Amino acid sequence: MEINKVGVVGCGLMGSGIVEVCARAGYEVVVREINDELLKRGLGHVQASLAKAVARGKASPQQADEALARIQGTLDLADFCDCDLVVEAAVENMAVKKEVFAELDGILPPHAILASNTSSLCVTEMASVTERGDKVLGIHFFNPVPVFPLIEFVRTILTSDDTMEVAHQFGASLGKKMVTAKDTPGFIVNRLLIPYLLDAIRIYETDLASREDIDTAIKLGLSHPMGPLTLLDFVGLDTVLFIADAMFEEYKDPRYAAPPLLRRMVLAGRLGRKSGRGFYSYE
Ligand code: CAA
Ligand code: NAD
Repeated sequence: MEINKVGVVGCGLMGSGIVEVCARAGYEVVVREINDELLKRGLGHVQASLAKAVARGKASPQQADEALARIQGTLDLADFCDCDLVVEAAVENMAVKKEVFAELDGILPPHAILASNTSSLCVTEMASVTERGDKVLGIHFFNPVPVFPLIEFVRTILTSDDTMEVAHQFGASLGKKMVTAKDTPGFIVNRLLIPYLLDAIRIYETDLASREDIDTAIKLGLSHPMGPLTLLDFVGLDTVLFIADAMFEEYKDPRYAAPPLLRRMVLAGRLGRKSGRGFYSYE
């Protein structure tokens, strides 16, 4: 099966990055947001990231212009009617994802593949609201999408070999390396990353060290590009809370239980970089 047109649902942190890498790889891309303001903001992020790619010598000005010309923004999922593959990158909420999957199942052509960029949720549950379970899988990108070279595929017991083959061709066309995990909460990367991030909040809560010292210790002591509290702000505290709650709900393991401070920061609107304030201030 040949992929010509890709649909992306959500143009936030991840959706905007997925739109960018798909357009740069030569696909026609349609992206849906829930209102004009968010759509404009998301497409603005794509434009700024392409400008950064040009400034860093990763793309020519002409390639960036051509990529932008391949992107169509919309508020209407009906515009996905001629997509060959869709990546859903809306919020980490099962009810929202199931609504999108059910609606898209009635809009997409029969051959189209329907994927979720979910970090932790059950892909089989999303497949269950469609008539195309064999064509549903997780295509989990990493943040920032244009920079990180990995895709984690999530294969359910319904996903067919043909779908996995097309997904591998798609991943290769984006220049990504690929790994495959079973449909279990957190897959490979977040199964390991989330307890680590939650533990960082726990030690900060207990006043073991300042936030700067926790981050510096991990950056310089383990050679990580970011300390855990900076990474939490980068990923989005709301997203991390959604992921932790989903993983705790399935495993009932205290390693995935959200620390009280995380929940309170989200309730207070301190979501990290995206809201201007998290563990650090970005205002
Ligand atoms: N397009 C193409 N390349 C780009 C680019 C763009 N838009 N923007 C930057 N780059 C390139 C730069 O040219 C540079 O490449 P070279 O080294 O070859 O020059 C590289 O990307 C790094 O760019 P910067 O110098 O601007 O950035 P930095 O050095 O300050 O690093 C960072 C920024 C990449 C975000 C780094 O801090 C980092 O890796 N942080 C950790 C992020 C992380 O762990 N992400 C995973 C989160 S978990 C997840 O995603 C899963 C989940 O479900 C929650
Ligand atoms: P985000 O909050 O930055 O963006 C989500 C966007 O989805 C918002 O702009 C919102 O308006 C939009 N949206 C909500 N409902 C929608 C709908 N019905 N149709 C279209 N758009 C809708 O979140 P994000 O960080 O981009 O996360 C998106 C998904 O990617 C989540 O499932 C998350 O778990 C996953 N993910 C996140 C990261 C990360 O580092 N943040 C990494 C990998 C995967």
